[in-house]
Amino acid sequence: MNPYDYLEAHREEFLEELKDLLRIPSISTLSEHKPDVQRAAEWLRDHLMAIGMTETRLFPTAGNPIVYAEWLGAAGAPTVLIYGHYDVQPADDPENQWLSDPFEPVVRDGNLYARGSTDDKGQTLTQIKAVQSLLASGQMPVNVKFLIEGEEESGSTNLYPFIDEHADLLRADVAIVSDTSMQGMDNPSIVYGLRGLTSLEIEVRGPSHDLHSGMYGGIVDNPLHVLVNILAAMHDEQGHVTVPGFYDRVLTLDEIERAELGKTPFTMERFRSETGLEVPWGEPEYEMQERLGIRPTLEVNGLVGGWTGEGGKTIIPARGLAKITCRLVPDQDPWEIEELVRQYVAELSPETVKVTVRGLHHGKPVVVPLDSVFMRAAVEAYEFGFGAQPVFMREGGSIPIVASFQDVLKAPVILMGFGLPDDNLHAPNEKYSLECFYRGMQTAVRFYETIGQLT
Ligand code: BES
Ligand code: ZN
Repeated sequence: MNPYDYLEAHREEFLEELKDLLRIPSISTLSEHKPDVQRAAEWLRDHLMAIGMTETRLFPTAGNPIVYAEWLGAAGAPTVLIYGHYDVQPADDPENQWLSDPFEPVVRDGNLYARGSTDDKGQTLTQIKAVQSLLASGQMPVNVKFLIEGEEESGSTNLYPFIDEHADLLRADVAIVSDTSMQGMDNPSIVYGLRGLTSLEIEVRGPSHDLHSGMYGGIVDNPLHVLVNILAAMHDEQGHVTVPGFYDRVLTLDEIERAELGKTPFTMERFRSETGLEVPWGEPEYEMQERLGIRPTLEVNGLVGGWTGEGGKTIIPARGLAKITCRLVPDQDPWEIEELVRQYVAELSPETVKVTVRGLHHGKPVVVPLDSVFMRAAVEAYEFGFGAQPVFMREGGSIPIVASFQDVLKAPVILMGFGLPDDNLHAPNEKYSLECFYRGMQTAVRFYETIGQLT
């Protein structure tokens, strides 16, 4: 049986297996889910063994385990490193909008709904099932190494040193990452750029404990006032980041690339349907697609402080905290950006309080070359799988470890994403289209067949 017939014949089985994996709430940012994270890693290891990978291992780390598996039986053929992540974002939902239990996957209208369905268990399994069908049909054209981590959603902290220490084990001719989206099912796209990330906390500490605001208001500075003043000073009225030096290393696009990006505008229609908003925001001299792909940002992700319970409480709070992330583009450096924010915050801090900046995690921006044999094979494979020539796009999101595949492993990277723009990743009602699941497997099989011919 050829691999495509094998895929076709096992559709239902693959779907049930994906559901099994999705039932495990492997949320890496919440410590109470540690056992679930472990279970998801073991599930993958056992599964990779069952499909015929010859060597499968769980590497413990200071955080969550790393799943590794290999099959190296195609002597002389290229070796691919397939990366994915089995951790998921929390499924909390203050507005109560999940239509079904996030960890009890269900199919509605051709989509599989569950936390992690597209990001990234579904896409990871798309790759695993492509490899399974090649192995099962006895036509495996390439050598394969799987690297599946459990900390992507919390910054891949322990994967960085792992790659440094296991560069030989992970050595490959090309690295494949299925953790991004396409424009649409019938107008596929390939992501060739990812933004980097600097994640920070700013803490403002004032009095040693909460104070009565009547007894001390007027003589004690309020940490929350200081905090919001600092945060308000981070942007100008047009949405530019005001941290001195922030844009210094930002590369401008040549006209060719800008024109290419202009072919896939972020329309107002998409803006409305995806955000529920009427009025966009941001740097006026850039199109929306450009603000997402080629411009850096600074966002406040959360604020903690003071009394937020029912009723009022007249206090001057002792402390306030802001969680911030900067999305970065070439050639910004995530550690240098942290330093620039530190300096600016120091300038803005009055002597009445103590302000601390903590760097949490960092990821470099990535751009992959468009003119490689691997990219040509990917374009052809998408045409085969999705019936149309893919366009190239830059993605606003981040996958922190991808830069290390280029920098440390010296491997070209292909971002072979199969998600759709309305997949609701990190949001209520996350889904993965079953059509993307199956066509994605066909695309991946085709890609491996093509590059198997390269020597
Ligand atoms: N799969 C996403 C990356 C992504 C985002 C692809 C948007 C396509 C569209 C990935 O799992 C992710 O969410 N990464 C985090 C990284 C961060 C927590 C370090 C992100 O971008 O916020
Ligand atoms: Zn994610």
